[in-house]
Amino acid sequence: MSLWSGRFDATPDADVFAYGKSLSVDRRLIDDDVTGSLAWAEALAQAGVLSVDDMKSIVGGLVAIRRAVHDDPSLIAAAADEDVHSFVERELVERIGDAGRRLHTGRSRNEQVSVDFRLYLMRRIPVIQHALAALVAAFADQAESAGNAVMPSYTHLRRAQPVLVAHMLLAHAAAFRRDVDRFSAARHECDLMPLGSGAIAGTAYAIDVHALAKRLGFSRVTANSIDTSGDRDFVAGFLHACAMAMIHLSRLAEDVILFTSEEFGFFELHDSVATGSSLMPQKKNPDPLELVRGKSGQAVGLLTGWLTTMKGTPSGYNKDFQEDKTSAFAAEDMVIGCTSTTATVIRTLALKTDRARAAASGFLLATEVADYLVGKGVPFRTAHEVTGHIVRDLYAAGRDFGSLALADWRRYSDRFDDGIFLAITPDAAVAAKKTPQSTGPGAVAAALAETRAWLEQAAVSFR
Ligand code: ARG
Repeated sequence: MSLWSGRFDATPDADVFAYGKSLSVDRRLIDDDVTGSLAWAEALAQAGVLSVDDMKSIVGGLVAIRRAVHDDPSLIAAAADEDVHSFVERELVERIGDAGRRLHTGRSRNEQVSVDFRLYLMRRIPVIQHALAALVAAFADQAESAGNAVMPSYTHLRRAQPVLVAHMLLAHAAAFRRDVDRFSAARHECDLMPLGSGAIAGTAYAIDVHALAKRLGFSRVTANSIDTSGDRDFVAGFLHACAMAMIHLSRLAEDVILFTSEEFGFFELHDSVATGSSLMPQKKNPDPLELVRGKSGQAVGLLTGWLTTMKGTPSGYNKDFQEDKTSAFAAEDMVIGCTSTTATVIRTLALKTDRARAAASGFLLATEVADYLVGKGVPFRTAHEVTGHIVRDLYAAGRDFGSLALADWRRYSDRFDDGIFLAITPDAAVAAKKTPQSTGPGAVAAALAETRAWLEQAAVSFR
């Protein structure tokens, strides 16, 4: 029997009822449903709507249900109920009788699912943030052991300027730190207590919703019952945070796939995170990273799909909203799985210092040549043009800067002197950078120290 059978002459069509069932998905909310109901029972008693005896019996029943499901998950997995709320209420009535039938006084499943899902996301977001912080820690460790090693940086996937390997690693860490912040914002959006909204118009009992919010760990209460009933913006915020994290994981995967290839060869994937080919004996494939890159498309789809679902709904609760959990749980699992797999790949990555350094020499030092002339008083635009001519001539001759003697340099500009030979090394190029965001060794050391401090703070600040 469903929670709403009284009004109907016929029992639900078995197939149609099964089609509308969400228990297999929303049973993940069991702990949060019990948490919400425990607080609701106490609030009803405080408002004088429930006797203290009934309240105590409900509390005992709810705690027993939670324990029973933990001990034997098949109790809920095999249940025939419509959703997690119906499961808990049926179990409660079976266990404690009539008192159980009083729990739903003044409350609707519309606000119940909202409070459950908000509680769920508020406790699961910190789990995701911890996974992201572990990835940031892997970058920090690798940055530390890379020391002063250099590699090329790229724009347009063409060699641009030499950078410290540590700088490149911390670049990815910076993106994941933004994701952590984005998840904090998503959590803040969940942090509004919806109970008291009823089905749509509010509730006729004098519930102290502020005390209830405090009891449940919410810092605020929703403002308008109609808006509350139809609000799933917090799900969109969560899916957006997941999609952005997956996009960052995908771009990282692409970098690592490229940088560990024969063509680049700046890093080597650890054997334990690579796969072989059934046919080509020499192959060492980056399958886990390709899967991360591949799954990121689905993460974007989950966000887009959910926004599209919300778009067509009239104000107030609509059953369409039931689909939110399918999307959010899939995104949650994906982000956690992909983040921890990626952290293992990063942690075990081996730097091939010589290959990386060799690729950071040659024409990508052209900016240093131009800057050298600027240092001698030549206007930058002129210096750029002079350097461009040198590059063009060398390129045509199949040579690079290293092949030029001082007399050769001076044919292009009499401002060149002996100092040019010291200026055009990857280390000099890196050392010349002076701003705090730059790859200058002092700036990178400071960025690493700041990242370590952030990690220490992160370990305690995710609630
Ligand atoms: N399973 C439903 C959901 O996830 C719970 C709310 C049901 N409310 C209703 N009026 N049918 O949205």
